[in-house]
Amino acid sequence: MPTALIILAAGQGTRMQSDRPKVLHEVAGAPLIAHAMAAGAALAPERTVIVAGHGADAVRAAVLDIDPDVAVVVQQEQLGTAHAVAQTRAVLDGFTGDAIVLYGDTPFIRPETLEAMAEARARHAVVVLGFEPADPGRYGRLVMAGDALDTIVEFKDATPEEQAIGLCNSGVIAADCALLFELIDAVGNDNAAGEYYLTDIVGLARARGLSAGIVVCDEAETLGVNSRADLARAEAAFQARARAEALENGVTLVAPETVFFAHDTVIGRDALIEPNVIFGAGVTVESGAHIRAFSHLEGAHVSRGAVVGPFARLRPGAELSEDVRVGNFVEVKNALVAEGAKINHLSYIGDATVGAEANIGAGTVTCNYDGVFKHHTEIGARAFIGSDTMLVAPVRIGEGAMTASGSVITSNVPDGALALGRARQDNKPGLAAKLFERLRAEKARRKGN
Ligand code: UD1
Ligand code: CA
Repeated sequence: MPTALIILAAGQGTRMQSDRPKVLHEVAGAPLIAHAMAAGAALAPERTVIVAGHGADAVRAAVLDIDPDVAVVVQQEQLGTAHAVAQTRAVLDGFTGDAIVLYGDTPFIRPETLEAMAEARARHAVVVLGFEPADPGRYGRLVMAGDALDTIVEFKDATPEEQAIGLCNSGVIAADCALLFELIDAVGNDNAAGEYYLTDIVGLARARGLSAGIVVCDEAETLGVNSRADLARAEAAFQARARAEALENGVTLVAPETVFFAHDTVIGRDALIEPNVIFGAGVTVESGAHIRAFSHLEGAHVSRGAVVGPFARLRPGAELSEDVRVGNFVEVKNALVAEGAKINHLSYIGDATVGAEANIGAGTVTCNYDGVFKHHTEIGARAFIGSDTMLVAPVRIGEGAMTASGSVITSNVPDGALALGRARQDNKPGLAAKLFERLRAEKARRKGN
């Protein structure tokens, strides 16, 4: 069945106390709405429509950046969830298939749950995702008639008996797209909130003799973000799950609770991750690699047998081949480091290629930026870069070449050559002793005054 995904994201999110639209706050390095889009992707939707409102321009830019094929419609005034869905009508005109409604602030709906809803659609005209929260609070209540869903009542409009129901509405609803819009046309706003409730479509469908059903999911999946505290809870829930998955997949985490993953982190089996490691977006670590304590990785790829850290920083475009060593206080950005190369201490390698088995001495810096442009540094295989070498890019160090410690290298070094780019040392016999004598005398004179 072709599916249209509708994601509601017009709400202000007042309780976030933020200038940023709520759905652009991030969990695991990705905006909330990206998580909702990823969840919906399980249904391979033919169309995705985002309903934006507060901060619509920022939301539009962000979602188009994630997926340029989504449509964004703007709900000028937030008159309720049915009114929000109604805004997608023009974009979905002529679409035949199912529509499924998700919330942009609810990041953890599992693909399996949406698949179960799609399946349940074979039996019911409208399918609602329900859950049984520990504290039902002010959620809408699902009023059942046997196995079928009779109606949804919002908490504000519920009788005490209805309020006592423990089964709640997550907000996720699936129905035939044309039927959805027909039912929405019939939704009014004569209720406690004065809003057009999407939840009313269940009663309206039932009144037409159509059947409604539910799929029940775990409360963890329906965790919605309304405040910074919720955001922190969502992050914690994500991390707890990511850590458990990593362990299950054969990754060693010495202190799991101190390791932070991004939404897309991939770590191979038998990788070893020491405490206090942070993964930003876009990192893959291959099997058997070793990430030592206090390292920060983002947009990087670490191959088999490589050792990173402690205290290393891999920035976007860092590509470490097999058996590479990147040690303490080393930053690597946009650089391909070939097999077995070593950058063990206190270095910055940016916009560079480092050849196989090259050895980069402590304190080496690729001077890649002239204040306007970035330039490339090429270091040949088996080259030896002496400690404290400044490599002023663009520059090429040949294969098997050497640079003397403390050199400032401004021109290419041929293969096998030694480059000395520093002032010649000049020793003045006895001069230090004389200087000390003079300075100490001066100090004594000042004290005397
Ligand atoms: C809604 C449900 C309730 C359910 C709860 C689950 C309705 C009427 N009620 O209540 O049954 O238990 O979610 O969290 O649907 N939005 C818009 N435009 C609007 C109104 C809302 O885009 O005009 C978006 C919000 O940004 C949010 C989502 O829809 O992402 C839900 O809106 P919210 O106001 O939080 O609904 P609740 O009152 O919590
Ligand atoms: Ca809500």
